[in-house]
Amino acid sequence: MEISHRYPAAPLRPINVPGRCSAYMSVNFNNYKASPSSTNTNLQYDVASSESQSFKNRFFILGMGYVGKFFAQELLNKEWIVSGTCTSNAKKLKLEEMGFNVHKFNANEPELEVLDDLSHHTHLLVSVPPVEGIGDPLLQHDELLKRRLVDGNLRWLCYLSSTSVYGNCGGAWVDEDYPVSSTSGSAKAKARLAAEEGWLQFGSQLGLETKIFRLGGIYGPGRSAIDTILKQKQLSEVQRLRSFSRYTSRVHISDICQALHASIQKPSTVSIFNIVDDDPTPREEVFMYGQSLVEKKWPGHTRQLASHERVELSYSKVNVRGDKRVSNARMKKELGVQLQHPSYRSGLQSILEHLDPSMNTPG
Ligand SMILES: NC(=O)c1ccc[n+]([C@@H]2O[C@H](COP(=O)([O-])OP(=O)(O)OC[C@H]3O[C@@H](n4cnc5c(N)ncnc54)[C@H](OP(=O)(O)O)[C@@H]3O)[C@@H](O)[C@H]2O)c1
Repeated sequence: MEISHRYPAAPLRPINVPGRCSAYMSVNFNNYKASPSSTNTNLQYDVASSESQSFKNRFFILGMGYVGKFFAQELLNKEWIVSGTCTSNAKKLKLEEMGFNVHKFNANEPELEVLDDLSHHTHLLVSVPPVEGIGDPLLQHDELLKRRLVDGNLRWLCYLSSTSVYGNCGGAWVDEDYPVSSTSGSAKAKARLAAEEGWLQFGSQLGLETKIFRLGGIYGPGRSAIDTILKQKQLSEVQRLRSFSRYTSRVHISDICQALHASIQKPSTVSIFNIVDDDPTPREEVFMYGQSLVEKKWPGHTRQLASHERVELSYSKVNVRGDKRVSNARMKKELGVQLQHPSYRSGLQSILEHLDPSMNTPG
């Protein structure tokens, strides 16, 4: 079935980019507004009136995937100038239709033109994942990138990492000081750690305040247990194996955006942050709750699904993968973030509430 979230269309408006032709960008498009939006946080954050209008705040997102696109929308709403990249023509077209200034870009073979454009920006979010056995694709070209950015406009850099760097901690609580090893752990975790170290080093060579955000499992509109249930999709093998973890840390997209806003707003000497909610929970439990919400809204819909989605929680049969509870105390203390969705429960409720009301009965 087709699932639609409420994404209002928006008018196009001209934006003058210094040294460039006027570009047309839209505002408020495809805008998921969680209740209330992460823009309405306790953080005082209003650049629209001053800095961004004099074109000081220009944001570049390397990898306008799920997080990149959501955050780009929030920045546009605050009248930042936002540019970004994706890897295919089809995605570029879609993002352009939504109003973004987008480059097709392959980090393995970076085009100089794109790096030149990047150098005109003040803030950079890196969302491109590392490749096992190769490392961070862009850092393979760090000298090229550095030449473009040294003595440039960039003043803030954030790399989106993952809580997978901690590996399996036997269910213990882990904070950012938990010892992680770049020599043991899965190839994926090693690649992540190397990428983190690479971006920290890169940032310090440019004299930048560099942030590493270790994200838990990301969910939100279009990517959640609710969406999987409504699409009646079966769990992938990776998802099934994840079901065997006693604890899975996750975070709602609006809280990731909130943490990003806070980090831009609030200078801090701290570099590494876990970005997770308060409630590490087995995936199975989250699905059961999602099913109960869908069942309440559309009685009878989940009966068939429950039979093939239900996973036997037998820790003895499968290695418990990545088992840990990730602490978010530093994020709260240093960035002042008050989670909009401290638990998957409020996150899933909000996703269900914001589904398009014209969608009556799924299936
Ligand atoms: N999903 C999770 O639960 C989770 C949890 C923790 C951390 N993370 C990490 O957090 C980051 C953001 O997550 P996300 O869910 O927003 O990721 P996503 O939707 O997969 O976005 C990743 C972006 O990187 C781009 N990209 C991938 N390979 C590239 C390459 N070789 N050259 C240039 N661009 C490339 C993709 O391009 P296209 O748009 O063209 O595909 C996409 O825009 C990612 O690094 C992800 O691995 C994810």
